[in-house]
Amino acid sequence: KYLQDPLVSKECKDLMSTLSKNRGWVLPVMYNYQGFWHSISHLQGVLSFQKHFPAQDTDIFVVTAPKSGTTWLKAISFAILNRTSYPITSGDHPLLKTNSHELVPFVEDIYADNPNPDFSSMPPPRLFATHVSHVSLPESVHVSKCKIVYMCRNPKDLFVSAFHFTNKLRLEHMGVNSIEEMFDLFCKGVSLYGPYWDQVLGYWNESLQRPKQVLFLKYEEMKEHPGTELRKLAEFYGCPITPKEEEEGIVDAILRLCSFETLSNLEVNKNGTLTTGLSNQAYFRRGEIGDWKNHLTAEMVEQLDMITEDKFHGSGLTF
Ligand code: A3P
Repeated sequence: KYLQDPLVSKECKDLMSTLSKNRGWVLPVMYNYQGFWHSISHLQGVLSFQKHFPAQDTDIFVVTAPKSGTTWLKAISFAILNRTSYPITSGDHPLLKTNSHELVPFVEDIYADNPNPDFSSMPPPRLFATHVSHVSLPESVHVSKCKIVYMCRNPKDLFVSAFHFTNKLRLEHMGVNSIEEMFDLFCKGVSLYGPYWDQVLGYWNESLQRPKQVLFLKYEEMKEHPGTELRKLAEFYGCPITPKEEEEGIVDAILRLCSFETLSNLEVNKNGTLTTGLSNQAYFRRGEIGDWKNHLTAEMVEQLDMITEDKFHGSGLTF
């Protein structure tokens, strides 16, 4: 399904004809809308999301660029927010049977299929995910008090992860992309929902201006100080870890449940597929910091570091 053309509205078709195009990482073409690159189905989804999404002040959005650790952040957020209904250590926690992408769907994917989805059965706080850049969020989100958690990742690891992931998505007859080709595109900003740095900066700046609304996290900090970051998340979501929960060891229990080791070894994630047809396994590769050292040449590292330094110069953001 993820490779099929979606039902594209006339509005989307008209718009597409006016947008800059470039080659895609999986599908042949990507379109630049509001400064960011989208595949055709994402473009349709973003347009519908912008036009029809009725935000509520209690909504929560988990936002990332693809391959920043979305699967992990979705799992942790779901576990934190639903810990009363779904006790973490119960043997039938939803995360043991269902991939986090099904539990916390991408809102633009929902809108790509249906311009008027029914969210009425979702009790507040509604938890959504998106890869959409800050500038392209619906106006209803901008004017609401909803909370946004953005997680970024070191661009070198993110690129390597995206390179492997997108090659897995390509059908056999499409052949595989070379790392050199994809590196070149990535550096030019041509990646899904990219330019990566522009997306990061959009949310970073927003987190500085509206810290109560936007929490900015880093994959690397989540790996290095997971307990601290998890407590920060729970606090931000308005459901801090209580002293009693601390005593019971809930932080470690959530981290264990959502760990790469636990999730990647579950039957559902080894052999299951998403409703999009994608294999759950594709979302779990190594889950480590620094795998770029095994894939990038010294020249690539220098080039990427220079771009990152240049783009983030003066922002206070470092990697
Ligand atoms: P690698 O390809 O570097 O291994 P996303 O979820 O945004 O698609 O990102 C996928 C990346 O997050 C992959 O990185 C994947 O292995 C890693 N990942 C998935 N689940 C994880 C977890 N529970 N903990 C840490 N990393 C995880």
